[in-house]
Amino acid sequence: MSIEKAFNHIYTESSWGESEGSLSGGGSSRYINKTRNLFLAFAALRLDIIEIHDICGDCNWQRDFMKLIPNVRYLGYDVSDVALSKARDQNRTLSNMSISHNSIDLTKTKPNKFTDGKSLFLVKEVIQHLPLEKGLSMIRNIKNAGFDYIAITHHDPDLFSKAVVNEDVEPGGFYPNNIFAEPFNFKNPLFNVADFIHDNLKSGMGNLIVFDLQEQEI
Ligand SMILES: C[S@@+](CC[C@H](N)C(=O)[O-])C[C@H]1O[C@@H](n2cnc3c(N)ncnc32)[C@H](O)[C@@H]1O
Repeated sequence: MSIEKAFNHIYTESSWGESEGSLSGGGSSRYINKTRNLFLAFAALRLDIIEIHDICGDCNWQRDFMKLIPNVRYLGYDVSDVALSKARDQNRTLSNMSISHNSIDLTKTKPNKFTDGKSLFLVKEVIQHLPLEKGLSMIRNIKNAGFDYIAITHHDPDLFSKAVVNEDVEPGGFYPNNIFAEPFNFKNPLFNVADFIHDNLKSGMGNLIVFDLQEQEI
């Protein structure tokens, strides 16, 4: 099944369940992202980011960090037009946020930056649902488009015992990805949300790290 079909099927069938209004999975409720929201706003201010691009799913929680950084522009993309339509419906209020009208497969297509200013691409809970080669293509496309920084999901092997080796899955499957291991081999994390939360909350509310994307050899 193509990536687009696999994720549209997940949204039309609510295969990941409904989490406080979101069909994008248990990691997409506003509650579970409360620390990540502060973390992303902090990272944007610390790194002088003026644009954030995001694989947004149905974009249920992202307005909670975007309202903290009103001078930053946000654009949400997704391969699923079902997710994008829902994302547009629930994000009509913040003037600094927009959602793409066309679905885009970022394993095939490079995204476009708005400006030459500092940019962050958010790839939260995406890579772990894709075949390894597709995950690599996605990160390469974002890097080759010139984005300065990436915030990407990582599973700490101390908390997720299977997150030692990255596993190949079908589109829409799941493995707990380790961004420091083969084939991603990321290095030099700048900020890790896990450093800002209590140990008991790390497995559910952690798992997001900011890196300088251009220095990654990928
Ligand atoms: C688990 S959801 C997470 C959504 C959002 N990042 C969040 O944290 O709420 C994963 C999303 O990645 C999207 N996706 C998967 N592969 C993609 C691709 N190749 N290009 C663009 N979006 C993709 C899916 O359609 C889905 O909406």
